[in-house]
Amino acid sequence: MAQPGITAPANEEAVRAWDTVLYERWKQHREVFVESLGDLTDEAFSRMPPPEGGRCIDVGCGFGDTTQRLAELTGPEGFALGTDSSSRFIDDARDEAAAAGAHNVEFEVSDAQTASWDPTFDYAFSRMGTQFFAAPVPAMRAVRGALVPGGRLNKVCWRRKQDSPIWAETEAVVQQFLTRPEEYEADTCGPGPFSLGNPDTCRGILEAAGFTDIDLVARDFDYRMGRDMDAAIDAMLAIGPGAELIRLNGEHGERRRPEIAEAVADRFASWRQEDGSIVGRASVWFVTATNPG
Ligand SMILES: C[S@@+](CC[C@H](N)C(=O)[O-])C[C@H]1O[C@@H](n2cnc3c(N)ncnc32)[C@H](O)[C@@H]1O
Repeated sequence: MAQPGITAPANEEAVRAWDTVLYERWKQHREVFVESLGDLTDEAFSRMPPPEGGRCIDVGCGFGDTTQRLAELTGPEGFALGTDSSSRFIDDARDEAAAAGAHNVEFEVSDAQTASWDPTFDYAFSRMGTQFFAAPVPAMRAVRGALVPGGRLNKVCWRRKQDSPIWAETEAVVQQFLTRPEEYEADTCGPGPFSLGNPDTCRGILEAAGFTDIDLVARDFDYRMGRDMDAAIDAMLAIGPGAELIRLNGEHGERRRPEIAEAVADRFASWRQEDGSIVGRASVWFVTATNPG
């Protein structure tokens, strides 16, 4: 098991952001940022199912819904450990698993960059949890170190920002009003959601971490950004690259939020569905690899 609570110095700011402002925004907009990924997650699991009776580790597990799913898929003899550097996500994950009566699931607070897990897992999973490491190679080496020889990695991460209109177009609107300030007080989320968007980077990190059989499959999909226009605007200006620009601009960003929201509504208008929800296109990598031992 990793030692809980140890954070690599280079990662402190990102870990703090994930445990504070980002946790709060994620929780508030969970319907958009977690539940909208349900079908995509099922697809990732059906592409590479966790082994029945196997031991699984879920890296950057957030609220632990994927950890619970791993535990279900491995069956009563299987086991899933959810890990995350944020104690607030892990507290929620523990409470939710207990409320769901899940028995073969546990959670721990650990920073993947400083973790050293014993090689006792057959399968490592991560949905959007591996893009935020200041030092991605040591982190992915630790994930590989958690796997038995022949153990498999299955992860989902965003492709490049420009491959996902939901992110690129939102950011383009915000950029009409704001630029990235040279100096700012806010903690950032680390390298960021699109840090593995370049396939050579994504593959290179895994190769350097010692993985083999690395495979990346691009998957474009419909992303439900909100049940209505207000919900979509709130969510997309709370999380993601447009939201980050507002956040880093502090009070100035907040002052401009109403006019930004109006311009975003214009941009999203053509994505409105018959039921009023807003659905845009997005794109991820399905990444699989093996620990050769
Ligand atoms: C985009 S969220 C994804 C959460 C969850 N996997 C999901 O799909 O709903 C990224 C998660 O990675 C976690 N995280 C960020 N840096 C981490 C690190 N160095 N070690 C472990 N977890 C980290 C965050 O706390 C957050 O829960």
